[in-house]
Amino acid sequence: MRIVFLGPPGAGKGTQAEIISKKKKIPHISSGNLLREAVDAGTETGIKAKYYIEKGLLVPDQIVVDIIKDRIVKNDFKAGFILDGFPRTLSQAKVLDETLKKLGNGLDIVFYFSVSKESVVLRLSGRRMCVNCGANYHIKYVPSSRDGICDKCGGKLNQRADDKSETILERLKVYHEQTEDLIEYYKRNGILKEIAGDISNIEMITKNILDSIDLAEKRLNRARSGLN
Ligand code: AP5
Repeated sequence: MRIVFLGPPGAGKGTQAEIISKKKKIPHISSGNLLREAVDAGTETGIKAKYYIEKGLLVPDQIVVDIIKDRIVKNDFKAGFILDGFPRTLSQAKVLDETLKKLGNGLDIVFYFSVSKESVVLRLSGRRMCVNCGANYHIKYVPSSRDGICDKCGGKLNQRADDKSETILERLKVYHEQTEDLIEYYKRNGILKEIAGDISNIEMITKNILDSIDLAEKRLNRARSGLN
């Protein structure tokens, strides 16, 4: 299955992408993680991206498109993938469609995580990430067993540079202005599935996503075997 996770910052896309990627054995490609890796490595792309990320703005399309396209074209994602945080503009969505078309396929399902502004602010202001392995926590909803220490590797937990309150509000504004149009775009393409992301039961959200993937897989298999 070729899947996109779409939604506002802090909607839970990364959390769910990691779980679903393991359960369905398909890679999780996060544009945010790839950009942060480039920033940490101090590459030319990273130096350019840092400026935008820290201000809560979108990194210019060309930079992000090059990183993601490279991943998709170079790797043989026969079993599928989960794209988390990409596309984020109509122009990115069109490049993705063209790239997949050239490879002889297309997206199967786009999950739109609908979440209130209040939840976004609560989730992002309480998020902590391991500086060592990148594991994701929340001081209230997903706490580590030892304060400030990662359960998985013992690394230190930090707040992301763009999770400061003023940057969170800017990211939300940018989302409404530049990304929300994608909901309509994918609705028109008939592949949008809305997920109620406001509930704090992470397992319940996972179950809803997995149920939808199962249904979509059954539909695809029926279509392939000519029974539809
Ligand atoms: P990116 O890293 O993609 O950030 P984002 O989209 O803003 O999303 P987040 O990672 O903040 O949130 P999430 O939805 O993954 O939530 P999470 O699961 O962590 O992008 C960062 C920046 O990079 C952008 O601002 C931009 O500058 C640049 N960028 C990236 N992609 C780009 C692109 N395509 N084009 C241009 N620029 C791009 O959850 C949040 C918190 O809530 C966590 O603490 C988690 O533990 C907790 N949580 C999760 N689910 C629940 C739940 N159900 N209930 C309670 N708490 C929960």
